[in-house]
Parts: sequence; C-alpha cells; structure tokens
Amino acid sequence: MLTLLIATSNNKYTIVNLFKILALTIFTRYITKSSGFVLSSLRRPKPPPFVLLHRNRICFKMSGQIIDGKAISIKILNEIKEEVEILKENNNKIPGLAVILVGSRKDSQTYVRMKKKACNDCGLFSLGFDYPDTVSQNEILENIYDLNRNPEIHGILVQLPLPSHLDESFILNAICKEKDVDGLHPLNTASLCSTSTHFGAEKVDWTNFRSLPFHIACTPQGCIELLDRYEVKIESKRAVVIGRSNLVGLPVAMLLMHRNATVTIVHSKTPNPESVVKEADIVIAAVGKAGIVKADWLKPGCVVIDVGINSVDDPSKKRGYRLVGDVDFENAKEVASLITPVPGGVGPLTIAMLMRNTVDSCRHSLQN
Ligand code: GUN
Repeated sequence: MLTLLIATSNNKYTIVNLFKILALTIFTRYITKSSGFVLSSLRRPKPPPFVLLHRNRICFKMSGQIIDGKAISIKILNEIKEEVEILKENNNKIPGLAVILVGSRKDSQTYVRMKKKACNDCGLFSLGFDYPDTVSQNEILENIYDLNRNPEIHGILVQLPLPSHLDESFILNAICKEKDVDGLHPLNTASLCSTSTHFGAEKVDWTNFRSLPFHIACTPQGCIELLDRYEVKIESKRAVVIGRSNLVGLPVAMLLMHRNATVTIVHSKTPNPESVVKEADIVIAAVGKAGIVKADWLKPGCVVIDVGINSVDDPSKKRGYRLVGDVDFENAKEVASLITPVPGGVGPLTIAMLMRNTVDSCRHSLQN
C-alpha cells in the first residue's frame, strides 16, 4: 500500500491545499511515467487511489495488490502442456509421476488428488499408491526401489507428513536424486545450499532454475516464481523468511540468497520476530500458524508471500472451517504493496512447479 501523507498547516483544508495535492499527484505520475527509472511495481495495474481524512491529514491510500497465484499457475500449466505435447511428438516420451500417499489425512488426500489432476490436465502420466497408516517401512521402500528402476517414471513424490512410525528422511533418501522432483533428497538439498559458481563445466544460473542439474523443492520455487512474474526485484533487497522447515523455510531462504537478497530467517527462538520482519522488503511466511504475522509487523510497501495453509473453525461455512494463511491478510493487505491470498496464492504454484520438475526430469533422462 502506498500511503501518501500530506500534512496541512492547519485543520482547515482550503481549496488551495486541495489544488496543491492534485498538482502533486499529476506531477508524481508524470515523473514516474516519463523517467527511465520506473519501479517495476509501478508498471503493474493498480487499483485507483482514494482520498481519506486521517486525523488532520489527507491520505492518498492504495490497497495492496493481490497476487493471483491461480491465474499464474494456469498460465504455467498451459506452458507445460505444450512442452509435454512436443516431448510426445519429438521423442515419443510422456513424463510420468508416481505419488505415494500414506494414511487418511484429509489435507494430504486433497493435495494428492490435486497433483494427479494436474498431471492429467497437462498430459503427464501418473501412478498413485495409497497405503494405510499401518503400512511397513519396507513395503514403501520396496516400491520406491521399483519406481527408481521404472523407465516410465521420471518423478517420485511421497506426500508428507508421514505417520510417526515411518522414518521420513530414510524414505526420502531412498528416492534416487534424479527422480526426486520434490527436491527433498539430501543431495538435491546440498546442491541448493552450495555457493559454487559451477556444476562441473556448467556455470550456475540462479535466474533460471530450469537450467540447473538438480531439483529444487516445489513450494520455494513457486514463491520465487510469483516474485518473478510480478517483477519484484529481489537483488539487494532485505528478505525475511519466517520458518526454517526443510520443505519451505530453509530452501526458500537459499533461493533468495542465490538471487542476491540479504536474507534473515526468523524462527521459534528468535526474540522480537516482529522487529526483524519490520525491516523486510520481502516477507515469506512459512510457519503454519494461522494469522501469526500481524499487519504492524510489516514495513509499508513490502511484498508478502504467505505459504501457510491453516484451517480455522468457521460455522458459517458448510464444511465448518475455512483456510487461512500465516499472515493476518485483511489487515496486512492495507500495508503491503503486494500480497498472496490463502487459498489461491502459493498453493497452485507448488503443483505447477511439481509438473515442471517432472517434465525437466523426463527431459534430463533423454539426455543421459
Ligand atoms: N506436504 C506439504 N507440502 C508438501 C510438498 O511440497 N511435498 C510433499 N511431498 N509433501 C508435502
């Protein structure tokens, strides 16, 4: 939100004062349009400003623009669909994804259903394996070893979290790194955390994730994709990541660092997290706690990417609950210049990035 406060010398707004404000607005618009130094955010369509009175000041107020993750994901999925058609035509290959689900968590079932649907929509081949809570670790491992050898499968995803009797890292490590389209294998994580400038003879290009010879976790990639598609400058910006999970916090912090942001990770043991977040130009919230990030934690004009998907009771809804993010969206959107909603923000991007990683994995398999 861009708020322009113009203090008037006394409590009475004269016609002259109003003319001054009008002239200033027209002048500002002229400058931003005519100068070569145009902030990318000014190129985006903005909602019209409205004038309000706040104490004895006149405020021009702009609500934060909402990042439309759904629309971007549709665009990406269409791009992927075209790539899949070309792969089929030129190489007679269909990218294949295996999705392993254990247990009966409703949220995991929904995510897996959405991932399979996306495969279908993009023309990918998908194989689903649904196990009861009681499945043994060996049974899952045997399946993964088979899938590692299966030439029709280019990506293997184990939906997380797993029931507590299963060793999550042991299972994820069993997936061969080339098919780890979730980017959670330790070797893929190690590549992400390396600051080497080259992989073998290849120069590393962090502005093009698809050129990299390893997989990057889908949600973190989706966060950066949203920033890129909304032309948010990352280089030299202060970025604060809230949360340090293997799935989001850690990898997204690494990606921001590789894009030359100055990155801070805030976690459960950080004293005064609000004072750290307040310095951020870019805030990535990935804690998993409904509305924990308040509007007054945010620096005016910052960009907020909300990764949290939390269900809160809502008797007004037919299903009795609604989904909310980690950020107090209604108030935060009045402070941020750009913000993702929940749902409809990062979520759809996670799936789009999974499709993209699977297609890339298929393409890599053709080269090797
Ligand atoms: N559970 C929540 N997000 C993810 C994800 O990105 N990958 C997997 N495998 N499980 C998840």
